[in-house]
Amino acid sequence: MKKIILDCDPGQDDAVALALAMAAKDEFKLLGVTTVAGNVPLKLTQRNARIMCEICHRPDVKVYAGADKPIVQELVTAEHVHGKSGLDGIDIYEPNHPLEEKHAVDFIIEACLTADDNSIFLIPTGPLTNIGLAMKREPAILPKIKEIVLMGGALKEAGNITPSAEFNIYVDPEAAQIVLKCGRPIVMMSLDVTHQVLTTKKRVDAIRNLGSIVGQQIASLIEFFERYDEEKYHIDGAPLHDPCTVAFLLKPDLFSLKEVNVEVETSGKFTRGATVVDYWGVTDRAPNVKWAYAVNDEGFFKLLNEYLIKL
Ligand code: BDR
Ligand code: CA
Repeated sequence: MKKIILDCDPGQDDAVALALAMAAKDEFKLLGVTTVAGNVPLKLTQRNARIMCEICHRPDVKVYAGADKPIVQELVTAEHVHGKSGLDGIDIYEPNHPLEEKHAVDFIIEACLTADDNSIFLIPTGPLTNIGLAMKREPAILPKIKEIVLMGGALKEAGNITPSAEFNIYVDPEAAQIVLKCGRPIVMMSLDVTHQVLTTKKRVDAIRNLGSIVGQQIASLIEFFERYDEEKYHIDGAPLHDPCTVAFLLKPDLFSLKEVNVEVETSGKFTRGATVVDYWGVTDRAPNVKWAYAVNDEGFFKLLNEYLIKL
């Protein structure tokens, strides 16, 4: 069983990633859900994570609140995509599911330090602030991390929040650079691959018709979320970014990966937050990332539905 920590900023697509992780009870020991400021401010992302624990009937899952702003710059949010609540599309309420007192960064450090070497999988689906801060404060956590599977970055798709930057990396490029330089195995689910995972009408209908309330709620979340990208890209459905991370840990052969060097632009005038991906090996910079570039999208949605039905 894989020991995982999911670090997120829900966000409808983070919510689907959470649901998938919480459904995979036989495959994952979910040590905790840590939340960060990103799509919406921290007080909403931590609440939204707790709502998802209730929707998914997982009272045992511990939720921690972490950084309320990036390491250096001011917070940039994405209500234009996710709505004011971050989880527009379903009824929002103050959940009973508790928020742990411990800070998310302290939790990540403690969970790693008390674990065996090479045993923890980190799954960041928001800005990398919490993970970057934990690595900076306590480098002894590094050998404990088996793999980091994160959503962020872009090469062929360029950017979504600016012409050259993907949202998660753009919000906290300094944190992203700490993570990319940490020396542990990293898998990156960038826009290049998430833009191949589209929530077409047929696929959302299938989720709604799973015959469960959870299926209906997830379908409603996706329907709100997809309207922004459908209009922007003129496509049927939106890229379902964040669940690609969890799906990779459940079924890695859905994805094609290439080992590359990735650096983050932290000071560019127009390019702050851009991921500089040496896809063709034209530098002597050592590979630090397995970059996902293709996915079996039908297989992805089959997997998602197989797990959502368990909730
Ligand atoms: C990423 O940004 C957020 O809006 C989504 O939740 C996803 O993590 C996509 O660029
Ligand atoms: Ca996210």
